[in-house]
This record gives sequence, structure tokens and C-alpha cells, in this order.
Amino acid sequence: MAGPVDLVIFGASGDLARRKILPSLGALAVREGHKLRVIGAGRSHKSTEEFRELVKDASGRADLAATAEWVQLDYADPATFAPINALIAGTKVVIFYLATPPETFSPIMVAIANSGMATKGDPTRRIVLEKPLGHDLASARKLNAQLAAAFEEQQIYRIDHYLAKDTVQNVLAFRFSNSLFEPVWNRTLVETIQITAAEKEGIGKRAGYYDQVGAVRDMIQNHVLQLLALVTMEPPTTFDADYVRRAKRAALRAMLPLDVTSAVRGQYEGYLDEPGVAPESRRETYAAARVAIENWRWDGVPIFIRTGKALPRRATEVVIKLRDAPLLRIGGRRQRGIATLIVIRVQPDEGITLRIGAKRPGPKFELVPAGMRLDYAKLTRATLPDAYENVLSEVLTGGHSAFPGAEEIELQWEIVDPLIKAWEAEGHPEVYPIGSWGPRTADDLVEAGGGGRWIVSGDEPGTA
Ligand code: BG6
Repeated sequence: MAGPVDLVIFGASGDLARRKILPSLGALAVREGHKLRVIGAGRSHKSTEEFRELVKDASGRADLAATAEWVQLDYADPATFAPINALIAGTKVVIFYLATPPETFSPIMVAIANSGMATKGDPTRRIVLEKPLGHDLASARKLNAQLAAAFEEQQIYRIDHYLAKDTVQNVLAFRFSNSLFEPVWNRTLVETIQITAAEKEGIGKRAGYYDQVGAVRDMIQNHVLQLLALVTMEPPTTFDADYVRRAKRAALRAMLPLDVTSAVRGQYEGYLDEPGVAPESRRETYAAARVAIENWRWDGVPIFIRTGKALPRRATEVVIKLRDAPLLRIGGRRQRGIATLIVIRVQPDEGITLRIGAKRPGPKFELVPAGMRLDYAKLTRATLPDAYENVLSEVLTGGHSAFPGAEEIELQWEIVDPLIKAWEAEGHPEVYPIGSWGPRTADDLVEAGGGGRWIVSGDEPGTA
């Protein structure tokens, strides 16, 4: 029986569906009480019973499992899509979720459009795409053009799950709902900005994907640049998705393409022995770069971004370092102040720390670094939802604020493409030990570029 909402998941027996999509659907069904039916579609042969079992295991919900359906597809043969068409006839809202390898995007879109399962402009038919959204600028443009041929922008949801993280969305609230920060948020008072997206894990079993892409395509082209855009953009007219996208576009347009002379790539020791990695692979598992934003707000401010696998710990953070106080004279001696840091802890221990100078308690007038700390989890009794819950919730309600628009994706490729091409053309990444903070040259990059040194909370007094 057709329900009010059908979620057609292409690639439904894959890793992403099991680990993220179905568990988040289960949690959402509890949280928001959505009534929906899951239609799994993929290459493998499965009975409905087998698929229902999978849905139950992954989502923890017997009611979701009870109505689930499975359709076996040959992506190259549009006729095999017919059973989906039959199932969704009469359903109010249908969401097509492409959790499949990128080479299948095109045939699936064509089959959906040609079979009449979705009409361009019909807001009750929506399409969701997982990354990677292209392999470079040219392929991203092609994908966007194909999407635009079959769907209006309002029907399209491109996933960047970082945008659906609560702490990333909180960047907007923090910046624009407090008049305290915005006056200092510019080249006059900001000395440097850093973004770190560090992971402790290696690539695990994902060599098939990762060895084709590397750290820049996997993390910087999307998550890190989106985060940087939110941190550096102008205030949007309203927080509606269209206006936020517009503000992000302007910020991304002002970023210069990454330059190979201001970037460092690394590969963790033992990467070449990971199962599935090509012999002699030159793929980077670590990347750091200096970013220049040429606009009135940021011109000349050194901005640094880095990401990597097999680093000491998981830490995604934005650090805004303010200039020192101009003069600090204590006991007749001129002293260095304690730089104020604003640290947005995206994960883990989500929150914001303000590192300031304070008087050391006691008889002497001495300074110590001290932290003022907001713990995001303390704002709610509930546990923070997984980003995928937020993603699905928005798709179900038709909102777009957690999704980048077509043009942002292309602008992001414009920024990273020259660096990727230069790295692919020659040389080998520097090898770094597992559990280190990546190649030493990344420290030189920051120091020589006027950024001081890399900062993550916990390592910095006052930010723990
Ligand atoms: C994904 C990347 O987009 O993001 C992975 O493909 C990475 O390589 C992951 O591990 C990180 O996401 P999170 O939410 O764990 O920080």
C-alpha cells in the first residue's frame, strides 16, 4: 500500500544505508513520528523478507521493517525500475535517495526522469545525492547540468553531512545572534583563522573509494570549505536557506584557488599496506593549505586548513585567534599579552571555548590563560542527533538549510582543483607516523605564513 511518504534508497544494502541512513530513520521515526515506507533498491538479489530483516536490524524499528520493499535493479536497464514506479503510484511524497557509487548517478536520474516517476518542478518528488558530487570541476558541472535537466533546484538535496551537524549550524547562531563577536570578526582584530578536521582512524576498508580521491576531495572540497564559508561569510539577510547560500557563495567566490606552494600533503605510514590500496599509491591521507580570502573583511588574514587520517585524535575545530592587546606593562616591564582564542569545537565535546587572559589568583599581578567554556550538550537534555537525522528530517519537511547549492559545489571545486591537479602531476606525499599530527612541514607552513602554530583545544592552556 502506498504511504504518505516513500523513501526509495538506491544502494540500500550498502554500508551507508546500514550505518547511517536506516539507523537515523529509526531514530527520526521515534522523534518526529514520520510515517514512511522504505523501498530498497540495488543490484543484489534479495527477498522482501531478507530486506525487512536488514531494515529491522539497522533501524531497530519493527514498523519500518514491516512495510519495507526490495526492488532488484540493473542500473543500465531502465525497464528494471518499473516495479518502483508501480509501488510509488499514488504516494504523496517520494524521496529518491542515491546512496550508490557516482557512476550510477546518471543512469538512475535518467531512469527516474524518463519513467515519469518524478516531474521537473513537482515539489513532492525529491532527489537526494550522497557525495562525491563530481571528481573535479568539469564532472561536477556535468552532474549539476544533468540534475538541472530533470529537477528544479528546490527538488535537489546534495548531502554535506557537516552542514547538518548541530555545532556547524550553531556557527550562524553564535556569530549572528550575539552583537559581541561580529565587531571583532574581521582583519582589524583577527590575526589568523585555523580549521582542523582530524581523525584518529585510518581508511579502514574504504580503499576502493578513498584511494581514488584522497584527503582534499574527501574532506576539504566539501566539509572544510563549507565550514570556512560559514565562518567567514557576511551576515545573511535572513537565515532562510536561499540567503545563507547566497552569503556562502560570496565568501567562496572571494577565496583564491589553493596553491601548491602553500600546501602540504602527507600519507600515513602503512597506508600502502592497507587492503585495496594501489601499489605505490601517491594518494594523500593528510592535507594542509593556506587559504587567502580577498575581500574587505579578510584581505591579508592568514587562514589555514588541515585534515588527515591516522592523527592523534578526533578533533574538528575552528580557531579564531585575535590580535594581542596593544600594550601590557606590568611591574615596569612590557609584556606579551595572552592571545584571545575563540575555539568552535565542532566535535567531539561540542561547544565553544573562549581563551582569555586572566589574573592569576594570589598576591602578585600575573596573567594566566583561562577558559570560558560553553558545552553544547548542556543546552539540552536529549543526546545530540546524528547529522543524518537532521539531513533526513530536512528532506522530509522540504527544507534546504543543511544542503549546499549547485553553485557552491562548483565554487569549491574551483578552489581545490589546481592543487589536486598539481599533486597528481608529480611527487609523493610526505610519509608521517600514525598518531602524529602529520608532516612537520605543515608546521612550517603555518609559521612561515604568519599563523604562529597549529592550535587544537586540549593542547592549548586555557582551552581544555
Ligand atoms: C566523510 C568522509 O564525508 O566524512 C570520511 O568520506 C570521513 O572519510 C567522514 O571519515 C567524517 O565524518 P564525521 O562526521 O565522522 O566527522
